[in-house]
Amino acid sequence: MRAELGTAAPPSRGEMAIGIDFGASAVKGAAVDLRTGQFVGDRVRILTPQPSLPREVVKVMGTVVDRIVEQLTTRAEPVLSAADAAALPVGVGIPSVTRGGVVLTAANIDTSWIGFPAEREMSLAMGRPVVVGNDADVAGLAEVRFGAGRGQRGTTIVLTIGTGMGTALFVNGRLLPNTELGHIEMKNRDAEERVAESARSRLNLSWKDWAAGFDDYLHLLERLFWPDLFILGGGGSKRSDNYMQYLTVKTPVVIATLKNNAGIAGGALLARDGAAASGE
Ligand code: BGC
Repeated sequence: MRAELGTAAPPSRGEMAIGIDFGASAVKGAAVDLRTGQFVGDRVRILTPQPSLPREVVKVMGTVVDRIVEQLTTRAEPVLSAADAAALPVGVGIPSVTRGGVVLTAANIDTSWIGFPAEREMSLAMGRPVVVGNDADVAGLAEVRFGAGRGQRGTTIVLTIGTGMGTALFVNGRLLPNTELGHIEMKNRDAEERVAESARSRLNLSWKDWAAGFDDYLHLLERLFWPDLFILGGGGSKRSDNYMQYLTVKTPVVIATLKNNAGIAGGALLARDGAAASGE
């Protein structure tokens, strides 16, 4: 996924953006070549401050961006001029429902994020345009543009299986933002409590038992949305060998191809396409 600095025909300023993936444990970011989804230079990763208060996290994001810009501008053959790098837009995936740049929910991050005008505060702190979106939507954007959902017509549901259960719904490649299908009711409880990756260890389930619940969940989504494709992403998709054989839905199920990089690559897409990418 990493593209070397200084390889042939590096992307121009308009072909690059910075993506940031804000998770419960780390804030990760990179400059992304928007033609390919590849990183330009190295990914920067800093642990998420604890507690993950908005202003502390925004500071960390600023440091991530500074380090990315440093990589692009201080080489013997810089990828961008300092002025161009200063104008690179940033897109951030947050484990929250976001609307109009404001955070409306907080999953596995400090609850003081709720109501935080993230786009405004981040743009001010970083001195450049920033767009925020839901983390699963953002990862889904990258999968649909560059990964397992590329060129897919019809309805695609991307599931990010991790601490939470994130979902992104696409029709002919266009996102319907903030679907939050991880919280759909299943057997009288919030599905996420049974089907997120974290549920497997918390409930001490074998892969087979976890997969039975996950399969029920996919059947539920299938009955409600009649998708053409499920794409499984997030940390839980890395261990799909343990459960794919137990899935019985008719809809094709494939594994995300961008894995950990989807959040960053999708953030960059969001930065470029702004609200249009998130369907707003
Ligand atoms: C949240 C979603 C988020 C998902 C993955 C869920 O608990 O409600 O907004 O996308 O976790 O982080």
